[in-house]
Amino acid sequence: MSGAEGKTITIKDVKGKVGVLLPGLGAVSTTYIAGVMAVRKGLSKPIGSLTQMNHIRLGRRDENRNPLIKELIPLTDLNDLVFGAWDLFEDNAYESALNAGVLDKELLDTLKNELSGIVPMKAVFDRNYVKKLDGSYVKKAQNKYEFAEQLREDIREFKSKNKLDRLVMVWCGSTEIFIKPSEVHQTKEAFIQGMKDNHRDIAPSMLYAWAAIAEGVPYANGAPNLSADFPAMYAFAEEMGVPVAGKDFKTGQTLMKTILAPGLKARMLGVDGWFSTNILGNRDGEVLDDPESFKTKEESKLSVLDQILQPQLYPELYEDLYHKVRINYYPPRKDNKEGWDNIDIFGWLGYPMQIKIDFLCRDSILAAPIVLDLALFMDLAFRAGFKGIQEWLSFYFKSPIHAPNLYPEHDLFIQLLKLKNTLRFLAGEKELTHLGLDYYL
Ligand SMILES: NC(=O)c1ccc[n+]([C@@H]2O[C@H](COP(=O)([O-])OP(=O)(O)OC[C@H]3O[C@@H](n4cnc5c(N)ncnc54)[C@H](O)[C@@H]3O)[C@@H](O)[C@H]2O)c1
Repeated sequence: MSGAEGKTITIKDVKGKVGVLLPGLGAVSTTYIAGVMAVRKGLSKPIGSLTQMNHIRLGRRDENRNPLIKELIPLTDLNDLVFGAWDLFEDNAYESALNAGVLDKELLDTLKNELSGIVPMKAVFDRNYVKKLDGSYVKKAQNKYEFAEQLREDIREFKSKNKLDRLVMVWCGSTEIFIKPSEVHQTKEAFIQGMKDNHRDIAPSMLYAWAAIAEGVPYANGAPNLSADFPAMYAFAEEMGVPVAGKDFKTGQTLMKTILAPGLKARMLGVDGWFSTNILGNRDGEVLDDPESFKTKEESKLSVLDQILQPQLYPELYEDLYHKVRINYYPPRKDNKEGWDNIDIFGWLGYPMQIKIDFLCRDSILAAPIVLDLALFMDLAFRAGFKGIQEWLSFYFKSPIHAPNLYPEHDLFIQLLKLKNTLRFLAGEKELTHLGLDYYL
């Protein structure tokens, strides 16, 4: 298939089975897996998924060409997905889904056989990186390099046992403590030595990412952990011809922020303050109750407004913006988070106004279609020969991984344009600029 801009892109055949490997078999993973099974059986609709439901405009507006994305570009069929996972709790996907309490027991019972067949592999886990969790279903090894080797072995075994053609990995494990990139993250050699020396800046999620890339498996990170977001990992991914993407699924409150903030800026309205607070009671909420895991999440959630509002270009409007994010663990709410935003804005002549949002949200219901889209798009990227950082998938993330010399793009609408233009490019269609002057001149 040929891409626009004179480049020729050959996309490998979509045929065959694709394994979706999920470190972490918790609320998000099980909601995703059960959801795909329900859709396959015709019991439910894949709402929220662009790969399943979204149309894409091609050519001029008067051509009326609007195929589904999956009609334009070959994506793996849902029936060809096979799920695998790791966790530090032994519960199978049915038990874990019941425990997460996101989907109705009635629906889970109709899928019980299939779900019970998904039994996690033993995790690589270390309590120093997720303080609130403790499980005994874990691997043992002398050092982190050996742990990574064991994960590689798991990947190979899963592939051959299930007769898979390709694999993708999407991290759906817990949020780890905040780690800043250091020396050990700069080169592949330093990282390998660091694994052998049990370096403390190497967290378990990094070992999964390493193992995936080493096995030629695309890796996407749904949590805010550093994971694959540092120079050694980008270089390794480039070398192995593997796409990587992340970080932190953009759901709930941050999704709302990246919808609203571009609108306020587009109309040159000022913002004095943005206070966001949440209550949630699932295991994710419990993990985030630990200040060190919360710090990782906080950094991820805080980053979006600065980039969207560009206070350096608009100091009169955004320089004094006070942005605060709080997450409160409140068990009775389980997965049904409530997020409040108070936004202090100002308009003409500086007159103040307020916006209040109360979002009664279901975290995993919003995250599950993202896991599906990422699995299919990462597989597409792999088949198209894309390697290293996949910035075109920023649409799905709170803290998009980006080239070191660029700032990340957080505006949801620019991200969507980038994603769709990438698909048009891959399909050999013209990218859209929305200029439209030729309709009138
Ligand atoms: N739900 C959302 O909307 C959303 C949005 C953005 C990011 N996330 C992130 O996605 C991740 C999953 O969320 P969730 O609600 O499913 O959480 P969860 O607590 O229900 O599930 C996470 C699972 O990961 C397991 N785990 C932790 N460390 C592991 C390791 N090293 N190896 C294997 N398994 C491990 C835990 O035991 C748990 O079962 C979290 O990091 C969360 O912050 C979720």
